[in-house]
Amino acid sequence: MDLVIEGRVYFRGSLTRTRIGIEDGKITAIGRNLRGDELVDHGDRLLLPGAIDPHVHFRDPGQEAKEDFSTGTLAAAHAGVTTILDMPNNLRPVITSAQVADKRETVSSRAWVDFGLFGGLSRFSDIERMADDVAGFKLYMGSTTGNLLENDDRWIDAMLRRVATTGRTVSVHAEDDAILAKGPELDMEEHELHRPPEAEVSAIRRLAAMGTGARVNICHLSSAEGLAAMDGTGFTAEFTAHHLMLDSRFDRKGYSKVNPPLRTMRHREALMDGLKAGKLHILGSDHAPHTPAEKEKRFDEAPSGMPGVETSVPLLMGLVKHEFIDLHTFVAVTSLNPASVFGLRNKGAIEVGMDADLMVIDPKRMARIDAKHLYSKCPWTPFEGWDAIYPVATILRGTMIMEDENVASARQGQEVH
Ligand code: DOR
Ligand code: ZN
Ligand code: ZN
Repeated sequence: MDLVIEGRVYFRGSLTRTRIGIEDGKITAIGRNLRGDELVDHGDRLLLPGAIDPHVHFRDPGQEAKEDFSTGTLAAAHAGVTTILDMPNNLRPVITSAQVADKRETVSSRAWVDFGLFGGLSRFSDIERMADDVAGFKLYMGSTTGNLLENDDRWIDAMLRRVATTGRTVSVHAEDDAILAKGPELDMEEHELHRPPEAEVSAIRRLAAMGTGARVNICHLSSAEGLAAMDGTGFTAEFTAHHLMLDSRFDRKGYSKVNPPLRTMRHREALMDGLKAGKLHILGSDHAPHTPAEKEKRFDEAPSGMPGVETSVPLLMGLVKHEFIDLHTFVAVTSLNPASVFGLRNKGAIEVGMDADLMVIDPKRMARIDAKHLYSKCPWTPFEGWDAIYPVATILRGTMIMEDENVASARQGQEVH
């Protein structure tokens, strides 16, 4: 065996002091007495599956000054994220197989962690051809950053039936555009009024009523009513750290503007209860790196979105440490569930045959988030000063890529299949 790592391993639902044997990037054995060319003993530290962030906007190609695949994936590695799935709302939307191929050509060699690309759904998308090349599809039912939008039931129904034949999952920005109020908005309160919970509920209900057979994943669940509307749909629910941990009292003008909006405490509490009850299935950062210059424009003109790929998982580990959620929930929403929702068969668990993607956590190492110490190009975070636990090491297919928050190997991200 090339490499053997020892620690408190999250294995089949519990923490066990044991060793993981790794060969050619794969986990080939798990057991107490393994021997190999190299043994790394992490003592009491936790060895957890590397996180999968199934929702980032790296802006590459098109707006590389805001974030590119290199800085975005380094930011991911820093946070213990070993796989990211990148959204298709680039400056030029990625909605055909040819455009997916172009994007792959541009970004592949820049990746520090493994990645997959979403294909955007539009009336022009060659869905069946795209299916082999994408990690999933993305549908925008409400207008937000970029100009991908399809809110007509007939088209959505037809597209999702085609998606269903491919077996791929479709992630949905579920805000019913017909309910969103257009026109000027001057502050957080108006932003929330313009994009009310009813828009989320309506989008979810309409999708459920279609019964297309497609695997639907509802992104960034933001409201108590939206969460309730998920019952009985069979859809999976994705949530963000910002909707879980921030509410409308967090008012930093344009900086706090995001779609769907931050809402009142009541919604946050419902999300936290939902998370504990297993009704929120996957954590997605919705990493949307907008510049301070954009965010400091008049509220009306500031773009929506917040960075998150480099903070969401460490913040959630902070919640484990503070006993708001348990470790099982953390592992489920950061790795197990995203792997199963997007069919990433080699990812998401510490098991023989899986890719050796791991994060090493020292639960005693609580730190304060400081935007100056982040790898992302985005120079701000809504979580400045918050408690978080960063991994002491991130391991991608057996190679330590980040150690003590420093880059520890050459770049070797690959596309997931
Ligand atoms: O606030 C948002 N920003 N919501 C989205 O759905 C898109 C994202 C972005 O790409 O900026
Ligand atoms: Zn969205
Ligand atoms: Zn998004």
